[in-house]
Amino acid sequence: MRFAVLVGSKGRGSNMAALISGSFSGAVQAEAALVVAPREDAPAVARARALGVPVAVVPIKGEGYAGRLLSALGSARVEIVCLAGYMSLLPGEVVAAFEGRILNIHPALLPKFGGKGMYGIHVHEAVIAAGESESGCTVHLVDERYDEGAILLQRRVPVLPDDTAETLAERVLDQEHIAYQDGLNLLVERLQG
Ligand code: GRF
Repeated sequence: MRFAVLVGSKGRGSNMAALISGSFSGAVQAEAALVVAPREDAPAVARARALGVPVAVVPIKGEGYAGRLLSALGSARVEIVCLAGYMSLLPGEVVAAFEGRILNIHPALLPKFGGKGMYGIHVHEAVIAAGESESGCTVHLVDERYDEGAILLQRRVPVLPDDTAETLAERVLDQEHIAYQDGLNLLVERLQG
């Protein structure tokens, strides 16, 4: 099956790179067809080009975003959409067109520490502030709300007494790369089974 990765304007693209390299090595049972970014200067764009994956720049602002995005995904014959550092809410039309075929990764153990404002370093700050002894990441299906779709899998890490949000983020990120590859494989199996 062919997948696209949707990245945001600021993300490093490390999850995107994990999915693409997995697709090249065979660790991911799907083909990296397209990376979609909102801006040409998004850091993940250079990384995607270096990996040799086609990139579509689809600005979120302006008229007809849903149509422009659907057309880019359609031209590349994309069947599964993976959000990786994509910071906006997907238009309902796009969610409907790819129902049950859109994945996201969240850097915490949902349903805890999800929802509005819970992104990037804020998630890890909140986990530490709450005195949690463990955190992790969640791969889930995307519906029209933030972080609320069905959970496919989670990976856990300990929160250590001297952790800062940054050290915890790093520990979680290592697990994200494994979890996202496994999560995509799970979805492919489900869709093909
Ligand atoms: C990751 O922590 C992911 O969980 C979150 O955004 C971050 C993206 O990082 N949704 P990267 O761009 O994949 O390195």
